[in-house]
Amino acid sequence: MRHARFWGTLAFRLTAGYVLAGLSLVFLATAGLYFVLVTELERNTDLFLADKLHVLRTMLRERPNDWDALREEIELESAARRYEHFYIRLLDERNAPLLTTPGLAEELDLREFSRQVQDAPEHAVAMKGRHWQSFRVTSATAPVGFPPTHTDTIQIAIDVSQEEELLARYRSWFWAILLGTFAIFPWIGYRIARHGIRPVEEMATTARHISSTNLHERILPEGYPSELASLADTFNKMLDRLEESFERISRFSADIAHDLRTPVNNIRGEAEVALARARTVEEYRDVLGSCLEETVRLSGLIGDLLFLARAESPLAHLHRERVDISELLSGVREYYEATAADSGVSLITAAPPGQVIAEVDRMLVQRAVGNLVSNALAHTPAGGSVVLGANSEVAKIRIEVADTGVGIPPEALPRVFDRFFRVDSSRSQTSGGTGLGLAIVQSIMLLHGGNVEIASQLGQGTRVTLRMPTSAPR
Ligand SMILES: Nc1ncnc2c1ncn2[C@@H]1O[C@H](COP(=O)(O)OP(=O)(O)OP(=O)(O)O)[C@@H](O)[C@H]1O
Ligand SMILES: [Mg+2]
Repeated sequence: MRHARFWGTLAFRLTAGYVLAGLSLVFLATAGLYFVLVTELERNTDLFLADKLHVLRTMLRERPNDWDALREEIELESAARRYEHFYIRLLDERNAPLLTTPGLAEELDLREFSRQVQDAPEHAVAMKGRHWQSFRVTSATAPVGFPPTHTDTIQIAIDVSQEEELLARYRSWFWAILLGTFAIFPWIGYRIARHGIRPVEEMATTARHISSTNLHERILPEGYPSELASLADTFNKMLDRLEESFERISRFSADIAHDLRTPVNNIRGEAEVALARARTVEEYRDVLGSCLEETVRLSGLIGDLLFLARAESPLAHLHRERVDISELLSGVREYYEATAADSGVSLITAAPPGQVIAEVDRMLVQRAVGNLVSNALAHTPAGGSVVLGANSEVAKIRIEVADTGVGIPPEALPRVFDRFFRVDSSRSQTSGGTGLGLAIVQSIMLLHGGNVEIASQLGQGTRVTLRMPTSAPR
C-alpha cells in the first residue's frame, strides 16, 4: 500500500474528484454572477439612453421652439453631472448640428459616431472614444412639432468606462478566486479523503498483523461508518472460519501423529520383548501375528488418509456407471451378514430391486454404505436391527442406513463428520475405529455432488441419509 504509486491511490482519486467538482462549481457560480452583472449594467445604460431619447423627442414634438429648455437638457444637464458623462447631439434634416453637448468632439470621433449609430438606429452599440474610453451610443429620429413640420435626429453617447472598470475588477477577482480554489481545494480534498480512508488503513494494519499465532484477533467494528463496519464484520467472519479450519487442521495433524504412533509403538514393543531372549516358535508366531494385525490397521489408516487427501484434490474423478442401488445394498448386506449374526443384530435391506438406478461410482458408494453399516453394527446391541433403504426422489436418489443402537449425544452430532472424531475417544484403539469413516462418507458424497445427513436419538438409534444426483451434473 505504502509503495503504491500516488496516482493509483484512492486518496488521489477522491482528491481529484473533489478538486474537479469544486473548481467547476466555483467557476460556474462566478461566471454566472459575472454574466448577470454584465447584462444588468447594459440594461441600466440602455434604459437611461431610452429615457433620454424619450424626453428629447417629447420636447421636440410638443415645444419645438423652446430652445432654452432644449439647451438646458442637452448642454447643461450633462455638464452638471460628475460621475455620469453623456453627450447629446441634435441634427437637423440635412444632418447639420443644431445643439451639441460641450466636449463631445474631444471625446468621440464624430464621423465614426454618426456611422455607428446610423448602422443600428434605436439600438445601443458599444464604441471606443478618442482616449479609449468605452461608450454606448444610439440615435433616433424626432419629428418636430405637432403635426410635424420636419424630422430632426438625436444622437446620444454615454461613457461606460466606470462600468467597464468594475467588470475588469470583477474579472481579476474571478481569476484570483479560481486560483485560490485551485490552491486550497486539493488540500481540503486530500484531508477529506484521508479522513475517509483512515479506517480502511487501520483495518489493513490489523489484517497485516494477523498470522497463524494470533488468529483470534479481530477488528473492532465500533466507530466505523456502517459500510466499513460491515466490511470489518465480513473480515471477522472470514477470520472465524479461518481460525476454525486452522484449529481443525492442527487437531487433525495431532490426531494423525497420535494414531500412527500407537500401532508403531505396539509393533516396536512386541518386537523388543520378543527379541529380549530366545523364544519358542509358537511365541514368535504369536508376536508376528499381532504385528501383522497392527500393520493391517496401520495400512488401513494410511489408506483412509490417502483416500481423503485424494478425494479433496480437484483432480479427483469418478468412474460412474449405471448401478442398481438395491443390488448394491444387498452386496453390502451379504458382506456384513456374518458380523451382524455374530453380534445378534438383524441386518435388513428394504429397497425395491430395479427401481432405484443411478450413475455413480460403484466402489465408492459401496465403501460409503459399508462405513455406515459398520458404524451401525458397532453401536447396536444384540437384539437390535440395522435397515438399509433406498428410494428415488426428483433427479436424486436417497440411501438410508438406520439402526436401533445407542445413538449419538446431540452435542457430538455436529462433529461426527470431522476427521478422527469419535464420541467415545477413550475407547481402546483396537476396539474403536479411527474416526475417519464418516469423513470418508462425506467426501464420497461431495465427490458425487450429493450430501449426507445424520439424525440420532440417544438410546433410540441413528439414521444416516445419503443423497446423490442420479447422474453427473453437466
Ligand atoms: N450409527 C451410529 N451410532 C452411534 N454412534 C455412531 C454411529 N455412527 C457413528 N457414530 C459415532 O461417530 C463416531 C465417528 O464415526 P466414524 O465412522 O467417523 O469413525 P469410527 O467408526 O470411530 O472409525 P472408523 O470408521 O474410521 O473405523 C464414532 O466413533 C461413533 O462414536
Ligand atoms: Mg466408522
